[in-house]
Amino acid sequence: MEVLMEVRNLSKYFPMKSGFFDKDTNYVKAVDNVSFEIYKGETLGLVGESGCGKSTTGRMLVDLLEPTEGKVIFDGMDIRELKKKNRKELSKNIQIIFQDPYASLNPRMTIGDIIKEPMIVNKIAKGEELDKRLLKLLNCVGLASYHKDRYPHEFSGGQRQRVGIARAISVNPKLIVCDEPVSALDVSIQAQVLNLLHDLQHEFNLTYLFIAHGLNVVKHISDRVGVMYLGKLVEVAEDESLYNSPKHPYTQALLSAIPVPDPKKKKERIILSGDVPNPINPPTGCRFHTRCEKCMGICKVKEPEMIEVGNNHRVACHIYDKNKL
Ligand SMILES: Nc1ncnc2c1ncn2[C@@H]1O[C@H](COP(=O)(O)OP(=O)(O)OP(=O)(O)O)[C@@H](O)[C@H]1O
Ligand SMILES: [Mg+2]
Repeated sequence: MEVLMEVRNLSKYFPMKSGFFDKDTNYVKAVDNVSFEIYKGETLGLVGESGCGKSTTGRMLVDLLEPTEGKVIFDGMDIRELKKKNRKELSKNIQIIFQDPYASLNPRMTIGDIIKEPMIVNKIAKGEELDKRLLKLLNCVGLASYHKDRYPHEFSGGQRQRVGIARAISVNPKLIVCDEPVSALDVSIQAQVLNLLHDLQHEFNLTYLFIAHGLNVVKHISDRVGVMYLGKLVEVAEDESLYNSPKHPYTQALLSAIPVPDPKKKKERIILSGDVPNPINPPTGCRFHTRCEKCMGICKVKEPEMIEVGNNHRVACHIYDKNKL
């Protein structure tokens, strides 16, 4: 499979001043040395608890945030270089859909103008052609043509998210980062929006990075899934491999929390003890060791590296490390 985006050793540290006279700066290690790739045409799910760095990662991929370290290579080119050479090309190719469709839509603009804006900025169409494209896009995302003259507050959450999707696909992007696009929606609407994203993927040859809290949301739509914990990517695998044989104790705990529909099937639930540690001062060694049932001596002192444990299945855990001390 062809790689569309390669994320290499990406980190984002946010400086935190503890007091006005304090000279020492602490850092929130929101994303810390994360590497993965996104293949052309796939949906890569990215999951993890609140605050583990999913949005920060997503924002760096669309160039809304500058990485502290590391690189994002898109179609063979560093996005920072791409930005210098051709900023429009970058925004045309990589788009983002946000969790809260209300906050991301300008309340003073009509839906038509909101969807047209990126096409005008990127000089994709004008005049009659622009209006034609607008109507086609509204139709593609399941909205009616008369909706174009309305304002965001006149829409439901699900409809607003459809506007966000129309706006994102209007510029024919290759990759869309979907940052929890259905988390704010009613459960019944979630499925509709997920189906829409799925249909559009085929129609427009899109590649998705799909961010969500839990593994249950990404289960039906991802080809591969990455699991993050406290700024680190701890496991990445093909969908089936991850759900059927999760390797990392954290992934196992996340999976055990998904309810099974069959009451006869008893499933042992792994309850994670303790709170998520503070990303300003993360635990030494493996960041998960303070909550891990299988913690060994080495886990407290040595950070595990990502290792291949099967067909395209990678995990960062000392249990699978043959060279452990
Ligand atoms: N601009 C910022 N300045 C300082 N800290 C930040 C900033 N943005 C994010 N953080 C911190 O970085 C960490 C990761 O945040 P991020 O929003 O990426 O998490 P997330 O996985 O998307 O969480 P959620 O699931 O709640 O959306 C958090 O500890 C957060 O407080
Ligand atoms: Mg987030």
